[in-house]
Amino acid sequence: MDAAALSAGELDGALEDFAERFRRALEPPVLPGAIDRATLAARFDEPLPEQGQPVDSILGELEEKSAGALAGGTGGRYFGYVTGGALPAAAIVEAWTAAVDQNVGMWPLGPAAVELEVVTLRWLADLLGFPGESGYFGSGATMANTVALAVARHSFGRKHGVDVLTQGVRPLPELAVYGSEELHLSDHKALRTLGLGSGCVRAIPIDERYTMRVDLLVEAIERDRASGVEPAIVIAQAGSVNTGACDPIAAIADVCAEHGIWLHVDGAFGAFFGLWEPGRALVAGMERADSLAVDAHKWLNVPNGVGFVLFRDASSHRETFAGSAGYLTPGAGQNLHELGIEASRSWRGACVWAALKQLGREGVVDMVSRCCDLAQELAQLVESSPRLELTAPAPTNIVCFRYRPEGWADGEQLDDLNRTIQAEVADAGEVFHTGATLSNGFCQRAALVSWRTTAADVRALVDAIEAAGARLSGAAVPFRA
Ligand SMILES: Cc1ncc(COP(=O)(O)O)c(C=O)c1O
Repeated sequence: MDAAALSAGELDGALEDFAERFRRALEPPVLPGAIDRATLAARFDEPLPEQGQPVDSILGELEEKSAGALAGGTGGRYFGYVTGGALPAAAIVEAWTAAVDQNVGMWPLGPAAVELEVVTLRWLADLLGFPGESGYFGSGATMANTVALAVARHSFGRKHGVDVLTQGVRPLPELAVYGSEELHLSDHKALRTLGLGSGCVRAIPIDERYTMRVDLLVEAIERDRASGVEPAIVIAQAGSVNTGACDPIAAIADVCAEHGIWLHVDGAFGAFFGLWEPGRALVAGMERADSLAVDAHKWLNVPNGVGFVLFRDASSHRETFAGSAGYLTPGAGQNLHELGIEASRSWRGACVWAALKQLGREGVVDMVSRCCDLAQELAQLVESSPRLELTAPAPTNIVCFRYRPEGWADGEQLDDLNRTIQAEVADAGEVFHTGATLSNGFCQRAALVSWRTTAADVRALVDAIEAAGARLSGAAVPFRA
């Protein structure tokens, strides 16, 4: 179809249709329950269209084909992974930014976009209490970790007389990166992408709170030094994905300062713990990091695909990604392609700006505090149930627990039962949570980051798990006053 031939009437019709569907999409979703994969795949499986179709028919078709197969991630009963649901202002602004289609890589291609992102990063640094001199919006915490570790790698190279930007990693001395046994896969992926390989990671054992043993970190650093390996980077986690635990960042920052090591904090969601009064002590020292990676599509409840990284020192950040080409025409402001890996990119920061406008600092504090308080309530419900038990400490917004029928010991049978409970509860479509395998077996895992989650939603999760556990193990549903 010739796009230029689009009539005003057709566009108006498409937009009216869009407004109605968008309005419905902002309502709490129905959780989908199980869907047959073959049926779903068949809905989309058609040859490439040879001819175009009317604009006002396309969104309706997509909605129809997706029916029953949209994960209910924007609802209050979604406890999976650590993803929040889109706040209305964030979703509306994201849709508008798609329409104005700015290319944020170069200032002249999106001057307002660049200036908004600069200010929004400053707000985020202020909100999180991080003295960031510069930052960058990427597609999520994986990209934020990758950008941060690229800068750390460049900085390490400079210290050792190697220009990684031109010479690559081969001339670098043998190096080591330190993270706890619970280090997120994305940090390993970032190191692989950067040519350092995940083999350089020393997996420092955790304690009973699932946090890095700093005494063993020091031992590992000394061991490496003694054998001629250069300690390069420590990655501390503010919020480990399995349990929500926080590494002891202040103590780790002391070690990094003493040994001259780059401190990166992967704070995908835990960077926000300090906004919750009881969580403040957990992230103490985060402000001393050289780099901090954070997700926006987790606790800031913006649409998926947005995270950011903040740097204490702007110069090494700028050096790492600086570059131009004959066809690139600079303008009056910052070219964001010189602060990260991507050249062309969308106006991601706008939905974060919108979320912060909708909530304000107070709203973010309330949301984070409510989620953590509700997680503590969930932990208490688990502890007061005769059939449920915590399988890890729940210090923040994630709760790991399992159903244990009377007299059942740890082992494969208990793990299988809990796997089936998780799958059946998800398929039933009342609530959605995921599982995790910890050192003591498979558990039910609930993460709370949604602006919509209430105490009733938490109760519904516990009820669903207890009911499924009782049904599957043949036990009676325990009575709770
Ligand atoms: C600690 C941590 N780091 C990194 C990530 C990766 O984030 P993303 O999926 O946004 O790339 C996650 C995701 O859960 C995480 O919890």
